[in-house]
Amino acid sequence: MIKGIDHVGIAVKSIDEAKKFWVDTLGLKLSHIEEVPEQKVRVAMLKAGETTIELLEPTSPDSPIRRFIEKRGEGLHHLTLRTDKLAERLQKLKGANVALIDEQPRIGAGGARIAFLHPKSAHGVLVELCEPHD
Ligand code: CO
Repeated sequence: MIKGIDHVGIAVKSIDEAKKFWVDTLGLKLSHIEEVPEQKVRVAMLKAGETTIELLEPTSPDSPIRRFIEKRGEGLHHLTLRTDKLAERLQKLKGANVALIDEQPRIGAGGARIAFLHPKSAHGVLVELCEPHD
C-alpha cells in the first residue's frame, strides 16, 4: 500500500546556490548531502515536517538531471510515494499497462529501493516509488 509522500524532488543547478533559499532564507533543516553515482546526481535532503525535499544537482554532463534542467530549467522534478513490497507492486502496475521506467527496483539515496513510473502514465508527473531501507 501507499504510505505517504516520502519526498519531492527538485532539480537545481547547484545545491550550494539553492541552499541559500531553502535553508538560509526559508529555514528548512539540511539533514544530509550524498552522492548517488548510479543516477549521476548529488542530493541534499531537507526536512520539511513529515516529509522531505530532495534537491538534485547533476554531477556529470550526461546526468538525467542536467538534461532536465537544459530542457525545462530548474524546478519540480518528481514526486516520491512510499510503499511496501515494491517489486510486487511494479509487477502489478506492469500488468495494468502502466509505463515503467524501472521494471525492477534499484538502489537510490539512503539505500532505499526505488523505481520510477513514466509521466505519460501519471498525468504528466514523474512518480518515484520508494521502499525505505530498513
Ligand atoms: Co527522489
